[in-house]
Amino acid sequence: MPEPDGLSSYRERLEMSFKPETTHRTGAWIAGVRGDIAATLMVGTWARAAGLVSDAGLTTAMPPLSDLSLVRPDNIRFGGLDIGGARLAETAASLYKRSRTIDRDLLKAMSDRLVETEKDVLDLPEMAWDSGGKSESDSARLKDVISVVRTHIRAFKERHRLERVIVVNLTSAQPVPASPLPGDTLGDLEQAIEDNRRDLITSSICYAYAALSESCPYVNFTPNEETKCPGIVELAELRRIPFCGDDGKTGETLIKTALAHMFAYRNLQVLSWEGVNLLGNNDGKTLQQPRNRETKLRHKENVLENILGYQPHAGVTINYVPSLGDWKTAWDLIHFRGFLDVPMTMQFTWQGCDSILAAPLVLDLIRLADFAHRKGEYGPMRQVAAFFKDPQGVEEMDLHRQYGLLLDYAARHLTRSSEKQGTA
Ligand SMILES: NC(=O)c1ccc[n+]([C@@H]2O[C@H](COP(=O)([O-])OP(=O)(O)OC[C@H]3O[C@@H](n4cnc5c(N)ncnc54)[C@H](O)[C@@H]3O)[C@@H](O)[C@H]2O)c1
Repeated sequence: MPEPDGLSSYRERLEMSFKPETTHRTGAWIAGVRGDIAATLMVGTWARAAGLVSDAGLTTAMPPLSDLSLVRPDNIRFGGLDIGGARLAETAASLYKRSRTIDRDLLKAMSDRLVETEKDVLDLPEMAWDSGGKSESDSARLKDVISVVRTHIRAFKERHRLERVIVVNLTSAQPVPASPLPGDTLGDLEQAIEDNRRDLITSSICYAYAALSESCPYVNFTPNEETKCPGIVELAELRRIPFCGDDGKTGETLIKTALAHMFAYRNLQVLSWEGVNLLGNNDGKTLQQPRNRETKLRHKENVLENILGYQPHAGVTINYVPSLGDWKTAWDLIHFRGFLDVPMTMQFTWQGCDSILAAPLVLDLIRLADFAHRKGEYGPMRQVAAFFKDPQGVEEMDLHRQYGLLLDYAARHLTRSSEKQGTA
């Protein structure tokens, strides 16, 4: 990686890496575009394209995935929607101030681009509602807000002459609706939208519905479960669009799903696996609310049973600790039993920076969703199970086997393309 040597050099390299609009083939339209992950994703993508940072953290930068014809990160154009709040440049500045993950020169060099990207951001406070809460009688109708979202995605695509747009959900964890949608079909979902059932339909379902209706691949990085909604799955099949989710696997669950099989291989019986997560960012603040936290914790619950074949005592807590900023800290205690029934303990702490762990995964997912769509694949993207706590279309929770699905997928495509070249 070249050594950055001051602001003017950062700017020069950024300018050199900037390509005219016609080269931006793929759009990433992000719901929750002014959040920490989205801002880190943009700064990181541009810094990487300008050669200011290494490929660290990016799975798609490694062979065999790097041998696939994935969209180049510098050919991705960003846009999206938020319910308001800080501008993108302010989010990036706050990441610098609170967590020092973006250095000052990089922040200054990127500020014009962040301001420029705001032109492709829609402010839509009407997208914030609590499906389990009281419905305001004067609130905007669901079909109207969906129509606004669809129009914005379409205009973004046309304005930048993009070949395709990937819609990514990076909004906050939302409370689960008090009751599920009545019926399991796309028709039932559309009827509930028509009937303005804001008590049953979350804004995340609206984003997925709008994206698929516009034939855009859909990535749900949040714990909100719109990709589990049967009407959404049916729409993806009908439109022949790939989608993936739920809930990016970046921290404690990532380690759990990498480590648990070690105990299984040695027949070490896990008695308890307790996890305490301390979060200091906006996500942590949102998760202070019991109903939002419940949405998040659901995805952390079943991984151990899936890997070990039994459920040990496994408590997971999430606490908000503002002074930690983006530096999430987790403490895990594993109490297990070995030969002669002797109990032993393993403990570890993990201090990772939330958006630094998450942003490269989102970039990988955008590139892989773009590729899958280009290849005519549709339905749940099983190959990216390793990226999620609760992957769609895959029961397997073991990280290594999940990663194997991605390697097999790459190998299949590479064999096919080398066969094609052979017969050409
Ligand atoms: N950081 C990680 O390691 C990680 C891992 C897995 C999942 N996630 C999930 O990713 C999501 C984003 O995380 P973050 O750290 O960027 O959060 P954040 O709070 O910094 O950003 C969320 C953004 O979404 C916006 N928003 C909230 N509700 C919205 C709505 N209904 N419609 C449109 N915009 C809305 C907010 O205004 C904010 O700009 C969260 O759901 C989080 O749980 C994060």
